[in-house]
Amino acid sequence: MIALDVKGIESGYGEVQILWGVSLGLEEGRLTTIVGSNGSGKTTLLRTVMGLIPTWKGSVTFDGSDITRLSPHKKAQMGLVLIPEARQLFTDMTVLENLEMGATPARARGDYRQTLDWVFDLLPRLAERRNQIAGTLSGGEQQMLAIARGLMSKPKALMFDEPSLGLSPVMVTNLFEVILKLKQQEITMLLVEQNVQLALAVSDYAYVLSNGRIEFEGEARQVREMEAVRRTYLGL
Ligand SMILES: Nc1ncnc2c1ncn2[C@@H]1O[C@H](COP(=O)(O)OP(=O)(O)O)[C@@H](O)[C@H]1O
Ligand SMILES: [Mg+2]
Repeated sequence: MIALDVKGIESGYGEVQILWGVSLGLEEGRLTTIVGSNGSGKTTLLRTVMGLIPTWKGSVTFDGSDITRLSPHKKAQMGLVLIPEARQLFTDMTVLENLEMGATPARARGDYRQTLDWVFDLLPRLAERRNQIAGTLSGGEQQMLAIARGLMSKPKALMFDEPSLGLSPVMVTNLFEVILKLKQQEITMLLVEQNVQLALAVSDYAYVLSNGRIEFEGEARQVREMEAVRRTYLGL
């Protein structure tokens, strides 16, 4: 089953076209990655899919419904969640208050307690720090909180934009452990990363985006073996 089906997306900023007919699918319960150099259009693609910038051409289907023209808010209500590159936490609120803010979709409100237990089980450090002001957490902890807040909405599909950006090596390891745990729980995920090595190692399926176009796609382990990918993205 394809949870999210993106077909022929074109978009950009003002007159400048960035995406030139991008198509991709997220298989339910699997971890899909989009890798590509800085500036290849990864963030633009996520923002277009989410409806944060307009789609010029193409369509986005989620759970069988055409959601191309829906607002980001409506998409989030339906269970499509983006953890953005800039974390956008409420830095003067506590960890717990940030998590409460994540549980706003109607689907999530009823099971708030249960979902909170699940999130704290996944991220025990946040449980310890539940009453701490978010702005006083380390960068890595703030990233974990951003993920936790996304999880509080009980997403059907979770999209990450460069979650490892700016994290220490130890925190990157922690982060990928969390992503792997979510994968074991068969959460449908899309991971956008500049850390191509790591992204290809943990993912099931991979797309390589280059200058706003999908250059290669395939099972992640096959993409990892491709000569052009090894040369351009893995420095081998
Ligand atoms: N707000 C913006 N206005 C104009 N151009 C932008 C804006 N954001 C990104 N771009 C341009 O779009 C291209 C793709 O950027 P982006 O999607 O951020 O790439 P990536 O996430 O892969 O690094 C780049 O050339 C970038 O300069
Ligand atoms: Mg980006």
